Amino acid sequence: MKGTAFITGATSGFGDAIARRLSKEGYKIIALGRRRDRLEKLVKEIKNTHIIECDIRDKDALFEAVKNLPESFKDIEILVNNAGLALGIDGILQTSVDDLETMIDTNIKGLLYSTKAVLPIMAARKSGYVFNLGSTAGAWPYPGSHVYGASKAFVKQFSRNIRNDLKGTGIRVTEIAPGICKTEFSEVRFKGDIERANEVYAGVEPITAQDIATIVVNCINMPKHVNINIVELMATAQTWAGLHVEKN
Ligand SMILES: NC(=O)c1ccc[n+]([C@@H]2O[C@H](COP(=O)([O-])OP(=O)(O)OC[C@H]3O[C@@H](n4cnc5c(N)ncnc54)[C@H](OP(=O)(O)O)[C@@H]3O)[C@@H](O)[C@H]2O)c1
Repeated sequence: MKGTAFITGATSGFGDAIARRLSKEGYKIIALGRRRDRLEKLVKEIKNTHIIECDIRDKDALFEAVKNLPESFKDIEILVNNAGLALGIDGILQTSVDDLETMIDTNIKGLLYSTKAVLPIMAARKSGYVFNLGSTAGAWPYPGSHVYGASKAFVKQFSRNIRNDLKGTGIRVTEIAPGICKTEFSEVRFKGDIERANEVYAGVEPITAQDIATIVVNCINMPKHVNINIVELMATAQTWAGLHVEKN
């Protein structure tokens, strides 16, 4: 049996696929998310899983949950900072402050809390692997991406910066920055409007959550002296839009 993989946002999409794949690879799993029914389903379907029903924005609850991990789940080898969301695609003028704050609190502060809670365990073990889910939106602007893209730019630079602080610890850090993937992401973005969410993927073969899980496993299986800094990927059907010029 390998050590433990801690996955935030394990109730759907990438997190769910990564949890299932790493379990197959022999890791024990800590699965974090807010939806208890999904967590309970997961714990029935994959063995050696500990669930944490928690809002990643709740700093105290998160630190408490990590402090009180069962003894057999304290050997955390892998942290997948995956919980995150985009809300809406309207411009900055139209988007509510509440939605903007939710993206910042989840994608930036939540990721920070889980990193701060878990890194000391890895540092003490002199080994570990942190995956941070960024996005192509962190590097490439598009209309309506304002705070979502900026939050993922944070993820990108944070991932690089902490590598400097972790030198000598043996801890590896990789940012995974995907483009269009079919998960519940668009359903969340469009607040349950399934039709609008489906339009995003119509006529496109998007990346799948399983593809992301494969990337995680491939990175882990690289020799320990190799750190992959960034994996940026897009669906083959997706390219850049080019620069826009507003004409009179
Ligand atoms: N799909 C894409 O096209 C795409 C592209 C690039 C990057 N990404 C990034 O990939 C990551 C995973 O997205 P996904 O595509 O798998 O979307 P998803 O299917 O909507 O999954 C998002 C996960 O995040 C969790 N989550 C959201 N807010 C949370 C909170 N406050 N506390 C705890 N957990 C929370 C959700 O769990 P609960 O709702 O149960 O809490 C869910 O498990 C995100 O960071 C996203 O920004 C996605």
